[in-house]
Amino acid sequence: MTGRSPTLWKAQVRDVTCGDRVKIVEPANVYECTLSDDCFVGPFVEIQKGVLIGARTKVQSHSFICELVEIGEDCFIGHGVMFINDLFSNGGPARGNRTLWKETRIGNRVSIGSNATILPVNICDDVVIGAGAVVTSDIEVSGIYAGNPARLIRNAGSASAEN
Ligand SMILES: CC(C)(COP(=O)(O)OP(=O)(O)OC[C@H]1O[C@@H](n2cnc3c(N)ncnc32)[C@H](O)[C@@H]1OP(=O)(O)O)[C@@H](O)C(=O)NCCC(=O)NCCS
Repeated sequence: MTGRSPTLWKAQVRDVTCGDRVKIVEPANVYECTLSDDCFVGPFVEIQKGVLIGARTKVQSHSFICELVEIGEDCFIGHGVMFINDLFSNGGPARGNRTLWKETRIGNRVSIGSNATILPVNICDDVVIGAGAVVTSDIEVSGIYAGNPARLIRNAGSASAEN
């Protein structure tokens, strides 16, 4: 170790296509994505290039939303929710090989509990994902899902959650 200085890159909010009344709490690293009307993004969130987030969706602090993710309207993304686009399908990180990355599509009125991990999947409208769940496959039926791997624990009554 020689005690050299690291190269510093600053977290920034840049080149975001915003609707009306969008709020972002800094520090956040949010770039080249689209946030629709009335979206809220809490602090320490990263939202990467190409992500689309629908109207009135809230993203709580410490969440990571990677490229190739699309989230619908009136969703609630809890604290520390991690999205994944690289499944390490070749035995490790895809690194520059974006052809290995996969998409995630979240419907409308989906609430995702704190610390959940969402692998590349499609989730239909009106779903609740429990805290700490790991969603490994598509969800095609509205309802409440929890656990690792996430399983249906209760059918939909009113599936949308508020904080
Ligand atoms: C998943 C959730 C919505 C379920 O709530 P619920 O329908 O009231 O469910 P219950 O509390 O009646 O639990 C039903 C069963 O699921 C289990 N369970 C509940 N939440 C779970 C979770 N997150 N992970 C794993 N199992 C869970 C319970 O232990 C219970 O199991 P049992 O029947 O074997 O005893 C809720 O527990 C949850 O995780 N909410 C997320 C809240 C959150 O993260 N908010 C963020 C803002 S602070």
